[in-house]
Amino acid sequence: TPNARVKRDQQQEAVVVDGTSFSLNGDNFSYRFHVDNDTGDLLSDHFGGSITGDIPIETVAAVNGWVGEQGRVRREFPDQGRGDFRVPAMRIRQAEGYTVSDLQYQSYTVVQGKPPLAGLPATMGSESDVTTLIVHLYDNYSAVAADLSYSVFPRYDAVVRSVNLTNKGTGNITVEALASLSVDFPYENLDMVSLRGDWAREAHRERRKVEYGIQGFGSSTGYSSHLHNPFLALVDPFATESDGEAWGFSLIYTGSFSVQVEKSSQGFTRALLGLNPSQLSWPLGPGETLSSPECVAVYSNNGIGGMSRRLHRLYRNHLMKSRFATADRPVLLNSWEGLGFDYNQTSIYQLAQEAADLGVKLFVLDDGWFGDKYPRTSDTAGLGDWVPNPQRFPNGLAPAVRNYTAIVTANTSSHLRFGIWVEPEMVNPNSDLYHEHPDWALHAGPYPRTERRNQLVLNVALPEVQEFIIDAVSNILNSADITYVKWDNNRGIHETPSPSTDHAYMLGLYHVFDTLTTRFPNVLWEGCASGGGRFDAGVLQFFPQIWTSDDTDAVNRINIQLGTSLAYPPSAMGSHLSAVPNQQTGRTVPVSFRGHVAMMGGSFGLELDPATTPEEDKAALPGLIALAEKVNPIILTGDMYRLRLPEDSNWPAVLFISEDGSEAVLFYFQTNPNVNHAAPWVRLQGLDPQAMYSVDGNATYSGATLMNIGLQYYFDSDYGSRVVFLERQ
Ligand code: GLA
Repeated sequence: TPNARVKRDQQQEAVVVDGTSFSLNGDNFSYRFHVDNDTGDLLSDHFGGSITGDIPIETVAAVNGWVGEQGRVRREFPDQGRGDFRVPAMRIRQAEGYTVSDLQYQSYTVVQGKPPLAGLPATMGSESDVTTLIVHLYDNYSAVAADLSYSVFPRYDAVVRSVNLTNKGTGNITVEALASLSVDFPYENLDMVSLRGDWAREAHRERRKVEYGIQGFGSSTGYSSHLHNPFLALVDPFATESDGEAWGFSLIYTGSFSVQVEKSSQGFTRALLGLNPSQLSWPLGPGETLSSPECVAVYSNNGIGGMSRRLHRLYRNHLMKSRFATADRPVLLNSWEGLGFDYNQTSIYQLAQEAADLGVKLFVLDDGWFGDKYPRTSDTAGLGDWVPNPQRFPNGLAPAVRNYTAIVTANTSSHLRFGIWVEPEMVNPNSDLYHEHPDWALHAGPYPRTERRNQLVLNVALPEVQEFIIDAVSNILNSADITYVKWDNNRGIHETPSPSTDHAYMLGLYHVFDTLTTRFPNVLWEGCASGGGRFDAGVLQFFPQIWTSDDTDAVNRINIQLGTSLAYPPSAMGSHLSAVPNQQTGRTVPVSFRGHVAMMGGSFGLELDPATTPEEDKAALPGLIALAEKVNPIILTGDMYRLRLPEDSNWPAVLFISEDGSEAVLFYFQTNPNVNHAAPWVRLQGLDPQAMYSVDGNATYSGATLMNIGLQYYFDSDYGSRVVFLERQ
């Protein structure tokens, strides 16, 4: 390719091509593969620490065994039906019905920068940030082309992969499986780390040994879901938070997905991430292309913490499009846990006023404000009818919002901002919308339309539904001074007209997200799906923050937030201080502990009714709000070090260090009482060993001392917490 800026034998270049050998390089990693001369297949050579020059290869005598040659090689993009008995990265049902493929190398292209991915969220970067290698494969028998894309972000030790499959033949084919990424490691001893959960207990870290055979997880719910997150880490069995090799894989996708890890008879480990084959069966007519979502792969040689920090930085700088991605977030009060559905014009105004009196900057009106003929006063009616409830807002939203935004917030001269909750992908059968357009709800012919939370899912694959949502949300935003939207989604997808509807829905949803966020760039958008049911990189492209969980219990939240941080930046987490006893767990913990946990997320807020908050707690709120505002810039842009995990210790601790290293903030907790046991030291990480740091404006210690000895804090009861500031001298 004449345009390609390819320099041979210079390993520091992001992409180096030598004949038919390909080398991708970052600051601390190399990724190598080559074309097999006999078969035309792409074979993997390396994904790990940086290497240069030739690779030693010992030719092993062929054995005429059951798995044969195909099972003894490491493949870049394993197709189906030619003797590789491991799980394939793609399966195509040809027009004639068979599912054999033979993808052979044709050519390559190198692009400085990164081409967009049609219709899908994707990482972005300039020519100096990223270089893209596209390898063109072709199956001569079926006339199917596969373009494998590898975008290298050298400073993040990241390579971002996707695949375009094109039907260049004349018949109709069906794509039954398509992974975004497939890697074959030459190791047989790896651990896999993933995030599992359910509603109100998302993102629980699961670490297990990769065993022989296929193991995996995914989502068939139509969304990324609370059940398993579209993220996988493969780690050395001895890897810890701060040491050892870790490979992180994160799918930029919000729909049903699949992660499979297979340890095979020859001692290799294959990992695949991509669309869920059980919900694909994508028809591909002549000339049509199916693009896989992107999958990010990062390599870390400083443990699982290093892996997370690479993903956090990449996502903050090269995925999140919002202008608020790294901008200070207003402290908000959300009406949901305080008032639920139970409010009127007066009580909701009072809530806004009391929020402002505490120093809150943004008032968020959650569920319950809309529906005329079918008012949304409970979860049984109204979804789909996006007009203000005339009982609650007799003159519409505009005058009410004018009243709220006339309120001046405590200790400032600025006015309260206003935000609103919507759930536009859904419809209650009790709604005007459903009566008008029953066919817009997802359904499978005559099968009953099963309801969850009394609602059905709109078929967002339909252009008319996309237009309806775009118009409805635009009308709301144009009707009043609204600067924040919480976009909710509270059920999974059940009956669909065809398996491919799932992915078609996602393409429709991304079109809607893209249109609205482009049209309203000054709105701060927050994603939500019954809490963290869609906490994924696909949503983060459009919405810079996501409500992390409906469980606001501060002790549980340490696990959920640190789990979520395995893949996603803390800046993206919505986390609120709520009332006690906690609505989900019944637990009572001190207000400072609740506040300190919540301010580890980028979007700090309150989720309570100040009118019923005990005076003592209420008195603490302005101070906690001020503290949250002080730490917020470091949380939004800094590096996170999970010093001690809540699963391992009674003293979980997290350190955030600002981008320039000049400031740091330590969060230190004690969850259970500490009876007759010394207060442990917490050793810091990531500081400059030579530099001096003042601790809370008092004593000054060297970075080396803070990292090798640490700090010690004592609490005389359970639920103790400290927030400690460090300043580089
Ligand atoms: C979901 C959200 C909550 C709240 C309710 C409103 O459960 O996760 O935060 O908005 O819906 O119905």
